[in-house]
Amino acid sequence: MNTVGIGLDIGSVKIKIARVRKKRGGFEVVSFGSRETPPGAIEGGIIKDTKILGETIADLAGELGIRNKAVVTAVAGPQVYTRIISMPRLTIEELRIAVRYEAAAFLPIPVEQTAMDIFPLREYQDYQGKRAEIFFVAVRRSQLDDIQTACRLGKLKLHAIEIEPLALQRLLPDKRSSGTQAFLNMGASRWCFSVHQKGVPVFNRYFSFAYAGYQPGAVLPYSENVPSWSASRETDKLIFDMVNEVARSIEYFRIHYQSELSKMFITGGGTRVRGLDKAIALTTRCKVEIEDVLARVSLVEQVSSGDLEELKHDFAVAVGLAVRGGDFWWQIKK
Ligand SMILES: Nc1ncnc2c1ncn2[C@@H]1O[C@H](COP(=O)(O)OP(=O)(O)OP(=O)(O)O)[C@@H](O)[C@H]1O
Ligand SMILES: [Mg+2]
Repeated sequence: MNTVGIGLDIGSVKIKIARVRKKRGGFEVVSFGSRETPPGAIEGGIIKDTKILGETIADLAGELGIRNKAVVTAVAGPQVYTRIISMPRLTIEELRIAVRYEAAAFLPIPVEQTAMDIFPLREYQDYQGKRAEIFFVAVRRSQLDDIQTACRLGKLKLHAIEIEPLALQRLLPDKRSSGTQAFLNMGASRWCFSVHQKGVPVFNRYFSFAYAGYQPGAVLPYSENVPSWSASRETDKLIFDMVNEVARSIEYFRIHYQSELSKMFITGGGTRVRGLDKAIALTTRCKVEIEDVLARVSLVEQVSSGDLEELKHDFAVAVGLAVRGGDFWWQIKK
């Protein structure tokens, strides 16, 4: 089969795998599936038990018929550090070495315990001479080791590890547009907010708290006629605080980057809470749209309405990761 990419999204509540293939003008989802994350496997966004996690992944990979295939997965959580930094203009190899010294100044964990990657964004000249702007990402090395082990035990070949905002960015309708767009991935145990400009995630923030206690079909007490949404129940208060945190991040971004968000796409399990999109729009004063994976990729075959709902709400990261596999395939074919 002409399969081009498999994305594995290891969530703290749900493990998701999506498999896509290239078709004229885009991608289509060939198959997808999920498993509940076994208790104790992930805590606070960090892998705690690679064995039990690997067994669950192997089970899901078996069901989808993708044993020993290459997958792209993401590292997430509070211990992922991203930054745009300015460096003297050097070759990429020189930059990779130089950035380790630079990073020692701002990383909260020892450089020798981290894995880093860089991506050059633009070259420019100022009073310091020829310079380059670089997208920098660092993560605790042990987190990568654990992902590697979980994939090996899960009987999958690990092709690449990236960060959630990069996966989501592939789903933007117009990646290279000059506008400033954002994603808010509302997972069961953490939210991730990222701002994207011209195909680059320029700002990224994790909130290490979330609330997944709403029952299916829960509705927030939001009304179009009330100027600010009232949070009377304790659970609503919690989500109200979280939305305010996002609003503060947007304010920070507005001031420091002197740029306005043209749109924010929301995704993840939190999008199941009805009214949350409107509450976010009201609090953050942004245009908010629920990310519809199926507006970007099509489905090879019809699935039940329940599966369709699941794909729409929970699979954006997995599909975005899978599409990277597609890019890779395209490069090789070229
Ligand atoms: N705010 C919420 N309210 C109700 N249910 C939620 C909420 N967030 C998540 N869920 C439930 O959790 C499931 C998994 O959501 P999701 O895939 O976004 O979480 P995850 O990726 O496992 O978590 P995380 O990204 O935080 O590690 C959803 O299908 C949904 O049932
Ligand atoms: Mg998630």
